[in-house]
Amino acid sequence: MDRILHEKLRCDIQQKMNSNLDTQEKLSVVCRLVREHVPKYDWVGFYIVSSNKELILGSYAGEPTEHTHIRFGQGICGQAAEQKKTLVVQDVKKETNYLSCSPKVQSEIVVPIFRNGEIIGELDIDSHRLAAFDESDRAFLEDICDVVSRLL
Ligand code: SME
Repeated sequence: MDRILHEKLRCDIQQKMNSNLDTQEKLSVVCRLVREHVPKYDWVGFYIVSSNKELILGSYAGEPTEHTHIRFGQGICGQAAEQKKTLVVQDVKKETNYLSCSPKVQSEIVVPIFRNGEIIGELDIDSHRLAAFDESDRAFLEDICDVVSRLL
């Protein structure tokens, strides 16, 4: 991902975080901004960790998904939550523990959001392109999750 775009989006997002919008609106704006400016990001959404260790779909931009509640360990999202680390899947067809939202999706990145070392949510991005995510995407999205963690 382009460094200049990264900086610009980070700046825009930080500005929205400091606005009077409520938390839900802020998360929606992040999803929309990121999806609109990065064409390979086809679905962008936040999952929030519930008290019984489920990932509950919050704000998102893209097609509706049936996967609104995901248990830890289940799918790429659940595995990222269990392992407390960013997971990048370059070709979802090669994954056995994967929850498909659309046959168009070819690759995915899931970035945990932490507070005091505990996972409190995730940013999940699907792409219709194979191997859409590299180290620059990871760095950008981990940076965004760091900003967002102060909201949740
Ligand atoms: N593919 C995810 C499910 C969520 S959707 O991508 C929106 C997974 O395997 O956990």
